[in-house]
Amino acid sequence: MPGSPPPLALDDLRAADYEAVASWFADEEQFVTAVARAFTYPLSRAEYEDYFLPEPAPRPARRCLRAVIDHRTVGMASLARLDWRNDSGHLAFVAVDPAWRGQGVGAAMLRHVLRLCFDEYELHRVSLLVFPFNLPAIRCYERLGFQREGVSRQACRFGAGYLDAIAMSLLRPEWAAVP
Ligand SMILES: CC(C)(COP(=O)(O)OP(=O)(O)OC[C@H]1O[C@@H](n2cnc3c(N)ncnc32)[C@H](O)[C@@H]1OP(=O)(O)O)[C@@H](O)C(=O)NCCC(=O)NCCS
Repeated sequence: MPGSPPPLALDDLRAADYEAVASWFADEEQFVTAVARAFTYPLSRAEYEDYFLPEPAPRPARRCLRAVIDHRTVGMASLARLDWRNDSGHLAFVAVDPAWRGQGVGAAMLRHVLRLCFDEYELHRVSLLVFPFNLPAIRCYERLGFQREGVSRQACRFGAGYLDAIAMSLLRPEWAAVP
């Protein structure tokens, strides 16, 4: 059980975070584990700016967030496919600076993100996909109340083959019950 990380704030990702974010993935395998095949590796500044800096809006289609500790960006998470008719969103591109992993930063960051989802955006459902081998991520999601829905079979190209992805979701009443 990781200890409590230092106080952490949530903010929007900035253009200035590109170098930090790009540096968190030492190789393509680590990159694909975090972002599936949504971007090419290595992440280019152009792709980063195109996706991670959406126009601010009261009801955005996407929100890309960073965890900040002591003025340093130490993690990121994207709320994608925000669907304001169905009160749902999809959590993607979750990553913590390797220097900060295993210290509770991921869980603390996601608590902030989920408060935004359920308290501010008043969503009913947040979904995500995670590879079955990604045990720290699965542990983190389950601690926050995410439930397994099933498996998206062979959802992501990986090496010479394809990887399954576990589909998980968290509903508003489940979030309300998380200690
Ligand atoms: C997934 C990730 C965001 C988690 O961030 P983090 O700051 O390390 O997470 P936390 O410290 O809050 O929690 C990690 C949990 O995994 C557990 N864990 C770590 N290694 C583990 C392993 N090999 N097997 C099982 N559990 C493991 C920790 O004990 C902790 O659980 P606990 O709180 O019950 O003790 C981070 O590991 C990361 O950036 N990984 C690379 C990118 C990635 O895979 N993103 C997810 C894409 S779906």
